Parts: sequence; structure tokens; C-alpha cells
Amino acid sequence: MAEAFRADVLEGLGQVKKAVPARWLYDDAGSALFEEITRLPEYYATRAETEVLENRGGEFARLIGAGRAVVEFGSGSSVKTPLLLRAIDPAAYVPLDIAGDFLREAAAELQAKFPALPVYPVEADFMRQVDLPGAIHPMRKLGFFPGSTIGNMVPRTAADLLREMKETLQEGWGGNAEDAPLLLIGMDLVKDPVVLEAAYDDAAGVTARFNLNLATRINRELGGDIPLDDLTHRAIWNDAFARIEMHLQATRDIDFTVAGNRFTMRAGETIHTENSHKFTRRSANLLLLAGGWTPQARWLDSEERFSVILARGSEFRNAP
Ligand code: AVJ
Repeated sequence: MAEAFRADVLEGLGQVKKAVPARWLYDDAGSALFEEITRLPEYYATRAETEVLENRGGEFARLIGAGRAVVEFGSGSSVKTPLLLRAIDPAAYVPLDIAGDFLREAAAELQAKFPALPVYPVEADFMRQVDLPGAIHPMRKLGFFPGSTIGNMVPRTAADLLREMKETLQEGWGGNAEDAPLLLIGMDLVKDPVVLEAAYDDAAGVTARFNLNLATRINRELGGDIPLDDLTHRAIWNDAFARIEMHLQATRDIDFTVAGNRFTMRAGETIHTENSHKFTRRSANLLLLAGGWTPQARWLDSEERFSVILARGSEFRNAP
């Protein structure tokens, strides 16, 4: 982990366009700040998705059916999971996460809420195919990927991930169409850029702290001397790519050292720290199809800000 962080930061800061992968935003401080973001008035996404999960349980039950194993990708400390599990009466719950401590804590909490439900936490990087526990193989599967986390990936990586998820979920599948893997995925919607930029640059400055925490982390863990006071948080709508970009922008010419390597930034230059892609009905469907999933149903919150899509593992390459 420490070595991967160092390699990613040094490579990313060495590029002509400086960029650090967004996953490094989520250390303990970053994860706590993200939790705070989900409660901000401007950050509608969590509330909108939760509204859908609260209100559509009956339809989930009808379309998904009872007795599936729910495999949650990047389970974190989700409050959304119980809403789904209560609605569909699953046979098992498999939370997948790379952060082992967090994973076991969250699994224990969930087990306490659902004493009769078999829970099999798996510590794994879900960007690659994951070998599920043997007991899960014979069960039909439902993947659960809420939060529009898919939006953090560029389309190429998102499509790769969707295909890996399909590989993970179709282990043990007999090929019967009824039993094909399903995926329930949250995808945030394209909307007024003013609303989007506010959601990623809130008045209380929590998202700014979340973004700047990356530089703090680099300084602490990689012996850096990035001048934090000379970096400001930027949230920019990139219309061509339909995404909010988070950057750390230098307010004057600066130079600094990270792990013994010298870097310079001109005034106005940025470090790109996160993408958050937003989708339309068509772009969401296109991405899912590219990843091997055929959309089956779609739900929006009452203000039509966020979508939750149910998709089925595609069987054929030449037809949807
Ligand atoms: C948890 C990755 C979905 O992109 O909306 C929130 C992260 N970054 N505010 C998102 C985030 C800044 C969030 N995801």
C-alpha cells in the first residue's frame, strides 16, 4: 500500500499534466471527510440514491427475486445496504473491500442487523476478478455497486471493471437465462453545472478539505513539503467528458519535494485529483452494454437527480 502510494504520486506528479489517482483521497481522514460530504446540503447524491432504495423495494423484490447472493463492490460503511437486503430477502451477503479492518467491522455490524443472513466478507481488489467463497458459487448473484463510484473511472476503466464484475458474478452459473447475474448500480445524472459545481465545492469548505487532505497525506506519508497554503480546491465541470473534475491549483509559482524528488508548479497549474462522471440515460446504458450488462430497469429520485439501474449479464455479443 505505502509503496503503491509512493509510486502513484511520483509518477503522477512527474507527468506534464499532474494527476494522482482518486483512490488515495480515502485515508482515514479522507474517508471521514467524505462521510461529512454526504450530509452537506449541496451534495444531493447520497440522499437521492437512498430515497430510491427506500421507495423501490417492492419493485426490486419483483424484478430480482428472493434467494440471490448479494455481492457488494467496495462495501465501505454503507447505510444503503440494509435497505436493499430488507427488500429482496437474499440467500447471502458478500461485502468486498480492499480495506480489511473496515470490511470486517462493517460486516459485523450488518450481521447484527440480519442475524439469520450468511455474511461472507472478502478482502479483495474488486478492479480484478474476485474468487468468491465456494459456498456462494451455486447461488444466483446480484452485484450491488451504489454511490456512482463507477463515475470515478474513465469509460475505458469503467468498462473493464464492469466486465471483471461480470466474471466474478457468473462463477458457477449454469447458463440458464433466469439465473444470469444481475447488477444494481447507482449512476449520477448530468444536470445544471451550477448544481454540480456546488455539490463539489460546498459553502462550508468540506470538499476543499477533502481534496487538500491528499496533499497533507503526501507530506505526512511521503516526507513531502508541499506548501498547503499555496494550493486551492477547484471543482470544474468538463462538458465534453460530462464530468466534474477536482483539482488542486497553485496560487503562485511553487516548488516542493516528495520522497526526495523535486517538483515545480507554475501559478495556475493544477494537480488533477478526481473525476466524477455524470450520465444520461443513453450514456449510462452505453457504458453498461460496453461492460457486458444489459439494462433492464431504471429508477430516479423524485427530483430526477440520480439513477439506479438494474442490468442483466449480457449473453450474446451481437444483440442486447
Ligand atoms: C464517492 C466517489 C462517488 O464522486 O461524488 C464527493 C466522491 N468527491 N465529493 C463522488 C466525492 C467529492 C464521490 N464518490
